[in-house]
Amino acid sequence: MDAKKKRVLIFDTTLRDGEQSPGASMNLDEKLRIARQLEKLGVDIIEAGFPIASDGDFLAVQQIAREVREPQIAALARANAADIDRAWQAIKEAAHPRIHTFISSSDIHLKYQLKKTRAQVLKEARAAVARACSYTPNVEFSPMDATRTDWDYLCDMVEAVIATGATTVNIPDTVGYIVPDEFGSLIDYLFAKVRNIGKAVISVHCHNDLGLAVANSLAAVKHGALQVECTINGIGERAGNAAMEEIVMALATRKDFYGFRTGIKTEHIYQSSRLLTHITGIPVQPNKAIVGANAFAHESGIHQDGLIKEKITYEIMTPKSVGISGTHLVLGKHSGRHAVSEHLKKMGYKLNAGDVKKVFVRFKELADVKKEIFDEDLEAIVYEEVYKIAERYKLVSLTVLSGNVAVPTATMQMEVDGKTIQDAGFGVGPVDATFAAIRKITKTNYHLLKYAVSAITGGTDALGEVMVQLKYNGRSVAGRGAEPDVIVASAKAYINALNRLEFLKGDVKKVKVV
Ligand code: KIV
Ligand code: ZN
Repeated sequence: MDAKKKRVLIFDTTLRDGEQSPGASMNLDEKLRIARQLEKLGVDIIEAGFPIASDGDFLAVQQIAREVREPQIAALARANAADIDRAWQAIKEAAHPRIHTFISSSDIHLKYQLKKTRAQVLKEARAAVARACSYTPNVEFSPMDATRTDWDYLCDMVEAVIATGATTVNIPDTVGYIVPDEFGSLIDYLFAKVRNIGKAVISVHCHNDLGLAVANSLAAVKHGALQVECTINGIGERAGNAAMEEIVMALATRKDFYGFRTGIKTEHIYQSSRLLTHITGIPVQPNKAIVGANAFAHESGIHQDGLIKEKITYEIMTPKSVGISGTHLVLGKHSGRHAVSEHLKKMGYKLNAGDVKKVFVRFKELADVKKEIFDEDLEAIVYEEVYKIAERYKLVSLTVLSGNVAVPTATMQMEVDGKTIQDAGFGVGPVDATFAAIRKITKTNYHLLKYAVSAITGGTDALGEVMVQLKYNGRSVAGRGAEPDVIVASAKAYINALNRLEFLKGDVKKVKVV
């Protein structure tokens, strides 16, 4: 095949496996926003959720299926009739629906979890695929824990589901156990032994428990897999899934070696990563490949010298190719609305006049206290002003007394359901006192799982970005706030988490996927 035409399909599971990351729970609006961004990015398939898991999951998948028309929309279902029927109900209005059904195949899972024989499981896998095919010809099947499954039994199962009608067969490394050479051999084995393998696309879905998810996915591509399942920033169950940006950029940068391309518009990668971080509050480590803060920062003098002489000396891809603008210094106190609006466009935000106005008001307030406004500051304002969720709780005012003599005290006014309430809290420090005041006013007492502060840009006048993670009913929810004053940012982050939690309260998860 012509190398230019050889294409690997990108199956994004940020909204399903990714949402299983601690703290990554998203509400319907947030899921829709991510789905639209994934469409803009050019992913081939969006796994929008697991409709039987909860009513919230069902509604989110259904809404995405209705509104996001370009990519295929997949819904996950265990290998039983109720799950498959529910999955179909959620995606039946999609332009390109796909049912993804799965059952465990390893002896470990069969013995300890399913308590079923190989023959029984094979029968159920076939029945599930047959039922899914009665709704749509676009059916994917996954033998869960495939990489710890007996290879010959795995071949029998793959052959059986293809014969029944599965058009994609996914080989998941569910527990992140396999290593690249071995995975390559397993894919070779499947191609050698499964007689009808040419009738289906072979997919892989790798978890990162040994830090090998991307390497394993790429090894599988080298050996014939034509679909890769991955998530933005590599979020997902436990250590996460294979990171989409890493797979896509590895295939693009090393097409000399792999000879494949993807349909991803790489210039939207950075914004997709930032959007996910803003929504979930899950930060990206600074040294993370492709999208980390240091991914394109050259510290060594020798490297800098080489780069000045010729970029290719130390740069294998450009920041621009993944959507990092490179010009970070933006605007100041005297910049007008037009300049701000033009700059937002350059950063990739297409905002309407009303939203530009809201961003501009906050921009002016910030420019009064901060000399230089950077892209990151502007981005933080956009997320707070434009993409904010409905708010049951709002911060009205906050006064904090602290120091090495006084008992830290926070006096606070908040709006709760439109009514202004005032109270005070004490604590071991100003943040602790602020959170105590919020708890009193809102009459809530969720367990605080995590509190993290970082500076969005350099300097003591930088915006402080705070992430707060609260635990509710076995799930965790994150909130974020950005302000020059870190105590105010902390209050906003806590309140944002409470508001996001409101959406999840009614959505009780009945089922969890491994
Ligand atoms: O990791 C896994 O095995 C899964 C399946 C549902 C594909 O997420
Ligand atoms: Zn998974």
